[in-house]
Amino acid sequence: MSDIIILGIESSCDDTSASVLRNNVMLSNVTANQTVHELYGGVVPELASRAHQQNIIPVVHEAIKQAGIDKKELTAIAFTRGPGLLGSLLVGASFAKGFAQALNIPLLEVNHLQAHVLAHFISEGTSDESHPEFPFLCLLVSGGNSQIVLAKAINLMEVIGQTIDDAAGEAFDKCAKVIGLPYPGGPHIDKLAKNGNSKAFVFNKPQIAGYNYSFSGLKTSFLYLLRDQEKENPNFIQENMCDLCASLQSTIIDVLMVKLRKAATDYNIKQIAVAGGVSANSELRKAFNEHAQKYGWTVYIPPFTFTTDNAAMIAVTGYFKYLNQDFCSLSEVPFARVTKTF
Ligand code: KG4
Repeated sequence: MSDIIILGIESSCDDTSASVLRNNVMLSNVTANQTVHELYGGVVPELASRAHQQNIIPVVHEAIKQAGIDKKELTAIAFTRGPGLLGSLLVGASFAKGFAQALNIPLLEVNHLQAHVLAHFISEGTSDESHPEFPFLCLLVSGGNSQIVLAKAINLMEVIGQTIDDAAGEAFDKCAKVIGLPYPGGPHIDKLAKNGNSKAFVFNKPQIAGYNYSFSGLKTSFLYLLRDQEKENPNFIQENMCDLCASLQSTIIDVLMVKLRKAATDYNIKQIAVAGGVSANSELRKAFNEHAQKYGWTVYIPPFTFTTDNAAMIAVTGYFKYLNQDFCSLSEVPFARVTKTF
């Protein structure tokens, strides 16, 4: 069979990304981040869609150029259909439809969360790559989602647990905001926590049934501690910044790992992956490696480029869909909400 060359387009939140893959091998992956949101401490949906409009053509152009191909060589175009911000998704979806029609090639719609899991199957063309074996569990932790996904096959995934309120990344970002750190706060907390004592402060941990998560109580517990301590000492935050970050981070990771361990035991699965922006967290990566030692897990931790939103994961999912001839029509519209299976 001749090579399949897929252009992937990702625009679900605040990153405009385009990537070209030859089969599952990445040829390019270009992302334009939107800094405009830093001013507001969170993503502003209308500003995100406007920035996607400005970025989409240059980003796609650059991805095709860096791949060293001509656009006429593309076999198909894959785009993120959802979940995400509707206005942002519409930009990527509309562009993909127009481009696919102009080139007269098939269109592939991709679920963003399935793509985060399948990011583990992107090849960078090196010889030391390993990919998870089915069935495996994937802890999917980002700014908008916290889920445990049971991946039974490339095209058969079930969400067995998910947050009932805030996502793990949201907990990092919202707590970071109240102690004066810039958005997104997760990486700043990670950095400051390296010089802090993770046992300095104790925060409430959720008591939720099954494999579901909850982070809103932890956020409130964090806020109450600050409120009470600042009454006694107005400089409390500045004087305890690193300890606050370390204690918060270790609580979030502990909450994530307890449920993941439970799922691994109940389903008797030892192939365990992690995906999403929060998987860049150094302590979460450490926890994965410690669990591998202690519980005999084989863990799959993505390279940093594939942790956050990127179009290579959309293109690789599109590639697998292409192999199944799972095309979509021009009438498919984006969806904002999370689904239970994908
Ligand atoms: O998957 P992602 O890039 O996109 C969205 O879901 O929007 O995830 C972004 C999230 C943010 O909440 C950010 O704070 C978090 O990932 N994040 C981190 C780290 N790097 C990114 N959280 C903790 N530690 C990190 N090193």
